[in-house]
Amino acid sequence: MDDLIEAARDVQDRAHVPYSEYRVGAALETKDGEVFVGCNLENANFSNSLHAEEVAIAEAVKKGHRDFARLAVSSDRRDGVTPCGMCRQTLTEFCDDELVVVCDEGDGDVTEYTLGELLPNTITQETLE
Ligand code: THU
Ligand code: ZN
Repeated sequence: MDDLIEAARDVQDRAHVPYSEYRVGAALETKDGEVFVGCNLENANFSNSLHAEEVAIAEAVKKGHRDFARLAVSSDRRDGVTPCGMCRQTLTEFCDDELVVVCDEGDGDVTEYTLGELLPNTITQETLE
């Protein structure tokens, strides 16, 4: 199995999901091969939940990394979960359109997208210049 998918699976154990019981793990790989992981962290007010991808990107950016090659996402249902619309926008802030998004289908199967395919023509810093 791809190491990045394995990292996204492993971190699901630390998800805090008492409400949805839907565990998500994300693993973000820099162009020089470092990996930062995140899991979803839900909240009793329902609104404040952090998504796995947000947690992974915050972990990487706060440690000084901004050059990303791939993201893997996995849910405990092995259902090919893809980043939601909000996470696609958050990824776009820090990653280019060529970022490869690897989605875990289970049984060693993955579906790969690019971030540009998942969220074309969105607002970026350039739009605001
Ligand atoms: N979730 C993520 O962590 N990432 C996504 O992009 C999709 C949704 C989480 C949020 C919530 O804790 C659970 O999955 C159900 O929506
Ligand atoms: Zn999301």
